[in-house]
Amino acid sequence: MYLREILLMYLNYKFIVAGVIILMGILYKKYEHDNSFVAEINKHTNKNHSKIVLSHDELSHYNGIDHDRLYLAVLGHVFDVTIGNKHYKKGSAYNYFIGKDGSRALVTGDFKDESHLKDHILDLHCNDLLTLLNWRQTYKKKYTFVGFLNGRYYDDQGKETNYMKEVKNRIKQCKVEKIKAEQENIKYPPCNIAWNVDEGSKVWCTKSSGGIKRDWVGVPRQLYTPGEEKPRCVCINLAEDESSTSLIKMYDNCPHTSTTCIVNN
Ligand code: HEM
Repeated sequence: MYLREILLMYLNYKFIVAGVIILMGILYKKYEHDNSFVAEINKHTNKNHSKIVLSHDELSHYNGIDHDRLYLAVLGHVFDVTIGNKHYKKGSAYNYFIGKDGSRALVTGDFKDESHLKDHILDLHCNDLLTLLNWRQTYKKKYTFVGFLNGRYYDDQGKETNYMKEVKNRIKQCKVEKIKAEQENIKYPPCNIAWNVDEGSKVWCTKSSGGIKRDWVGVPRQLYTPGEEKPRCVCINLAEDESSTSLIKMYDNCPHTSTTCIVNN
């Protein structure tokens, strides 16, 4: 009996030692992997150790195959999206974005564009540019920022290029335009619009048309905006002034105070 207990204790002791050795092995492997990853990142740090700058060629290797991590760039910012591998690994819906800056496709959805314009965005409309900013924000929140891509947006020192400065100016303008449009939408909310075979187009105002909740209904008018080909229908509050801008016109054959107008196409 005594001998059996000693034997059991001896076996338990052996299991504990084996367990500790295996655990240390696992921890060492992880430490080795993390360290080589850090070393790899440090390789890209420039001389004053302030910014990590990757070339297109370097970025292209972080594709989950040549290198086990998955990187992509948005507006020249490189992110490690390895934790999102269900979206990005080979064969997944968004693998297109991996190893490159495919910013343009984030708004065009053209996942076949491999041209040198795939990170060119200056010709896009304001809404698309602001959407792109939101994408970059999403990546910042969800993934790890790695550094800058040497190319259209940043130079080899990680300094902004003139292109990036232009993008920033354009985005500033877009934000101002957006605020103006929002203010205009409150002053001149869009009308409801419907079409049917018998009547043709019908425009009308309600206290929430255009998604703008208010305590007045308004009457439909045509608002001409410089640079836009056609006028759009907006609701005008008759209690305020209608004559504030010559860019507003009444619809033909629609009474002055009618909240609904039938539009002749
Ligand atoms: C311009 C077209 C589109 C672009 C550029 C786009 C881009 C993306 C990207 C980059 C992601 C991954 C986001 C991340 O890393 O968290 C994503 C996720 C996703 N997309 Fe799209 N997408 C597009 C259209 C669509 C459409 C049409 C659908 C639906 C029919 C869709 C459904 C989804 C879903 C379900 C997810 C996963 C969301 C999650 O699990 O967090 N996408 N999209």
